[in-house]
Amino acid sequence: MNVIVVNSLSKHFAMPKGGKKGNKAMKSMQMRFMQKMKEMREAGDTEGIQRMQKMREQRMKEMQKMRQMKGGALKKDNIRAVDDISFEINYGEIFGFLGPNGAGKTTTIRMLTGVLKPTKGQITIFGKNLWKNQISVKQLMGHVPEEANVYIDLTGMQNLTFIGELYGLSKHERIERAEDLLKKFELFEKRNILAKKYSKGMKQRLLLCMALMSTPKILFLDEPTQGLDVQSSIIIKKLIREYNEKGMTIFMTTHDMEVANELCHRIAIINKGKIIGLDTPKNLRKLKQD
Ligand SMILES: Nc1ncnc2c1ncn2[C@@H]1O[C@H](COP(=O)(O)OP(=O)(O)O)[C@@H](O)[C@H]1O
Ligand SMILES: [Mg+2]
Repeated sequence: MNVIVVNSLSKHFAMPKGGKKGNKAMKSMQMRFMQKMKEMREAGDTEGIQRMQKMREQRMKEMQKMRQMKGGALKKDNIRAVDDISFEINYGEIFGFLGPNGAGKTTTIRMLTGVLKPTKGQITIFGKNLWKNQISVKQLMGHVPEEANVYIDLTGMQNLTFIGELYGLSKHERIERAEDLLKKFELFEKRNILAKKYSKGMKQRLLLCMALMSTPKILFLDEPTQGLDVQSSIIIKKLIREYNEKGMTIFMTTHDMEVANELCHRIAIINKGKIIGLDTPKNLRKLKQD
């Protein structure tokens, strides 16, 4: 059974620098060029006009070369962070998105969780179109973003009961669930300490607890163990496996091949916004050796 079906998904960003500004600069250069030509014509400066025309020809040639190098039309102001990807995630699997920095992992996970609207493509989760059924589909999800934050002026326990309240859990339910999660993630002893005093690894464990408060059917994790201490990393990996064994489908990104191999049933390798391989870790290793 498919939990997630992704069809021709793309996300293009406007270039933060250069793009529009670049166009403006180009336009004003053209204006200046035309003005100069006009002045020269009026002054009868044929030599100057010829010189300017030569410069223009050279510039046109350079532009043509650039076009050829980029393969097709010059991209004006577009980063193709995710470029026409399609894949399916089966019920009960840990599916990994593996790729270097800037490959498009975070952009993908943000689209799958409804944070970012795709430029193009379809996302179906549990048979429903994500963008047409945002509220009901999002209720099935837990999400730990790449740069998430806990509420630092609340204790670990308060962070969780607060989230529980947002989900409409009864007081009894939210305390029970929070305590259970804090124990599992080995934070129970620190439950009454302000989260600002937590280490990075403890904060990340608490974020996972927060994402699990709603008992989601599918969990999205963006680089769940990146930059953490060994103990936190071990605890998180163990619990990802445990929750998965209990039936939770997990989509996670990582740039660490070892983490992907260790945890994932299947891995999509992503580079420059495209999926360049998708298989089990075992088969991917075989492919690499051949
Ligand atoms: N909001 C944004 N605006 C412009 N470019 C972006 C934005 N978010 C990401 N990008 C660009 O998209 C590409 C993919 O980024 P990202 O999805 O964060 O990669 P990863 O998570 O694999 O490191 C990068 O080139 C990045 O600079
Ligand atoms: Mg990222």
